Amino acid sequence: MAEIDKDQVIVVLNRILEAELAGVVRYTHYSLLVFGYGRIPMVSWLRDQATEALSHAQQAGEWITTLGAYPSLVIGPLLDSHKHDIGAILRESLEAEGDALKLYRELLALVKDRSVALEEYVRQMIQAEEVHAAEVDKMLRKPGELSAFAPRAV
Ligand SMILES: [Fe+2]
Repeated sequence: MAEIDKDQVIVVLNRILEAELAGVVRYTHYSLLVFGYGRIPMVSWLRDQATEALSHAQQAGEWITTLGAYPSLVIGPLLDSHKHDIGAILRESLEAEGDALKLYRELLALVKDRSVALEEYVRQMIQAEEVHAAEVDKMLRKPGELSAFAPRAV
């Protein structure tokens, strides 16, 4: 089994950590700005997403220190469009989740067939993020509409 390129893996893990920390801030921010009839389930769903992003950030951080490196204290890019209707929030989160997925796929390419544990970790993350993106896509569809809001390869 070939060895992983530790430096490259750490770079991508740190970008994942930063992206997930940005997710914690983004979902918490959104959850404070939901008004209207859908508020109660929506606030609770957004806070669950913030908690999940925190757990993903912690897992990436644990891998960074497992590899003997220093975890980044930077937070990934945050965009405040000042549009706070639920549709805009969901479209922004779909885009951010797509960016996180790209990072996980980058990591998969670096560890595939090189580290069973890291490969297992990143495959689980991709699975979780794909399910999450699919959920958001379904929330963006009009009732009764079967075709994807933003069709994507899974
Ligand atoms: Fe995540």
